[in-house]
Amino acid sequence: MAASESLLEVSDIHTYYGDSYVLHGLSLSLTPGKIVVILGRNGMGKTTLVRSIAGLTPPRRGEVKFEGQLLSGRTPYGIAQEGIAIVPQGRRIFKSLTVRENLMLPTSQLAKSGKRAPRAGKEWNLKAVLHEFPQLADRIGNLGSALSGGEQQMLAIGRALMANPSTILMDEPSEGLAPRLVQQVQEILVRLRSEGHAILLVEQNLGLALAVADEIYVISSGRFVFHGTSEELSRNTEVLDNHLGVAKGH
Ligand SMILES: Nc1ncnc2c1ncn2[C@@H]1O[C@H](COP(=O)(O)OP(=O)(O)OP(=O)(O)O)[C@@H](O)[C@H]1O
Ligand SMILES: [Mg+2]
Repeated sequence: MAASESLLEVSDIHTYYGDSYVLHGLSLSLTPGKIVVILGRNGMGKTTLVRSIAGLTPPRRGEVKFEGQLLSGRTPYGIAQEGIAIVPQGRRIFKSLTVRENLMLPTSQLAKSGKRAPRAGKEWNLKAVLHEFPQLADRIGNLGSALSGGEQQMLAIGRALMANPSTILMDEPSEGLAPRLVQQVQEILVRLRSEGHAILLVEQNLGLALAVADEIYVISSGRFVFHGTSEELSRNTEVLDNHLGVAKGH
């Protein structure tokens, strides 16, 4: 597949929770080696978009295509097997399992299925993940519950990489992290991009978004109200003021 070709195509998806109509026709595409950022305030539909792509809350209308194949009707596990990994909001690591056990879960599940996920440039395994996150190597035998918020976030990212995904959906990885750790998340994102992963980054952290995004979408009440580059968003005071709550001059 050519590097410029899109891996994931989301076309006019409409997603509901019961009668509650949350996503009102969203479209986007992801390309290898690019970071697409979805920015938006609380409750605007960011996680619902991630859930829609991953098959956790399938859209009622519209299409999600991955490598040209429709994902509708596929289970979340089947979608993960295709090579789409999630780093969920709030980390959601297993607190009663060790760091090693948390990391080994995706590979043992995928190995059982007899099918490996397609890969971006680099093969991820335990050694490579521990090299990427030395703080996890130091805590390999510790329970998830013993980790700091930053370590849990690195574990959640490391766990996603263990499945060797081509595409990574990251839901607010900077949430609740100190600036130094947000910086580490930024460095990881940039490295994953350079290794050819396609990344969908959901964020509320404007600084992180502007620093890493190849493209930004701003979501407001389940609709995209802006699509452009970091530079274009920085200049768009209407969107910054009305949809991101950033006062003029900041
Ligand atoms: N399981 C659910 N059942 C019903 N409504 C839900 C459910 N999950 C989310 N919603 C509603 O859908 C809307 C979008 O929620 P979503 O979690 O996608 O927002 P978000 O942008 O991820 O917010 P945050 O930044 O707080 O994580 C909100 O109005 C929320 O209350
Ligand atoms: Mg969310």
